[in-house]
Amino acid sequence: MIIKGIRGFKDILPEETEKWFFVESEARRIFRLFGFAEIRIPLLERTELFARSIGEATDIVGKEMYTFRDRDGDSLTLRPEATASIMRAYLEHGLHVKEPVAKYYFIGPMFRHERPQKGRYRQFHQIDAEILGVQDPQADAEILVMLVRFLETLKIPNIALQLNSLGCPACREPYRAEIQAFLRRKQEGLCEDCQRRLEANPLRIFDCKKEACQALLGDAPIILDFLDEDCRGHFEDVQGLLRDLGISFALNPRMVRGLDYYTRTAFEVIAGDLGAQNAVAGGGRYDGLAKDIGGPPIPGIGFAIGMERLILLLDGAQAFSSRPDVFLATLGERAKREGFSWAQRLRGAGLRVELDYEGKSLKSQMRKADRSKAPYVLILGEDELHRGYVTLRNMATQTQEEVPLAEIGNRLKNLKMG
Ligand code: HAM
Repeated sequence: MIIKGIRGFKDILPEETEKWFFVESEARRIFRLFGFAEIRIPLLERTELFARSIGEATDIVGKEMYTFRDRDGDSLTLRPEATASIMRAYLEHGLHVKEPVAKYYFIGPMFRHERPQKGRYRQFHQIDAEILGVQDPQADAEILVMLVRFLETLKIPNIALQLNSLGCPACREPYRAEIQAFLRRKQEGLCEDCQRRLEANPLRIFDCKKEACQALLGDAPIILDFLDEDCRGHFEDVQGLLRDLGISFALNPRMVRGLDYYTRTAFEVIAGDLGAQNAVAGGGRYDGLAKDIGGPPIPGIGFAIGMERLILLLDGAQAFSSRPDVFLATLGERAKREGFSWAQRLRGAGLRVELDYEGKSLKSQMRKADRSKAPYVLILGEDELHRGYVTLRNMATQTQEEVPLAEIGNRLKNLKMG
């Protein structure tokens, strides 16, 4: 029996990778316009990095991390997200001294032991971007504009940006007490998990998927009513800047996010076409994170986009294509050999060339050309070779003409650009 892959760990097959490449290169292109530089972080970190930043009482740290002891006895964890690692690298290399304002992005796999379903995997990929060192609401607006512009570039349909402010620890403490008191009165109606959350981290109850718990939250107090003057002013400024830029959003005062490091602005992008796992991106401000992992107080804000979900949303008619520019068919031993050299020459000229390696019949090569979806086929036989010509067939119009071999590179390039 063939050994199978692991549940929740997906292969990305060649027919799909063109989309991944397209999404990644568009991200790099757009993020560059905003002055973001790429940072690459390791797959493994000390477990305590995530425990102290994401928070012990979250689902991620509590039950989803891939944690193990390595041969030296150290507790290590496969990264479940990128923000904590990026902040760690920023502090560890003294970048905060050299670059007090930094804009970084990262693309790569993350690991969470969740129940796999459509749009939810145990190894998944994120496109992550962070602005470190800026508290000003312009950083919040900038990260959101970049996210929205990127999704617009990809023409992702039916998406909505939801915004909330989670305040700072000073506003959250009285809010936490209030929500705890409110829910204690309804404690019997809460599920077992939420009864536990009620003591450890009552805000997490907003994340519970059970209808009974959600119903009890119907008229719960909301954090926006507890923001102090600074946090309220910050949130109003962010909204004002977004309006100036014509970015539409909706306030969602019940969005608390699944990680504990957030302060002030928090947001999610929800996609109408994704079913249950409908958050295509999420993020927010984390002004306390640097201190939580032992550093100086450095503010930050960022987002992460779930790449699998983003790719599910890509319209089939997008501008990515895995088809060759031209298929080269040859007839006879000499043409096969010469054709092989011509294929390399055309590739050298920037054309994507496919060919048959096995000396099959012309009929079989034409079938292969058809399957490859190449818009043009070059047919090279002994006779053409002798005369210095090649037959160029347009697969859409089913017409063909003879072109001098020496001109074929330029001719194909013109056709490709036209
Ligand atoms: P997050 O909300 O946990 O935030 O994840 C961001 C996105 O990753 C989600 O909106 C979703 O699209 C995708 N995602 C999460 N879990 C899975 C999964 N099991 N399978 C497939 N996709 C998934 C963060 O990770 C924060 N680090 C975001 C951030 C950056 N905050 C500030 N900076």
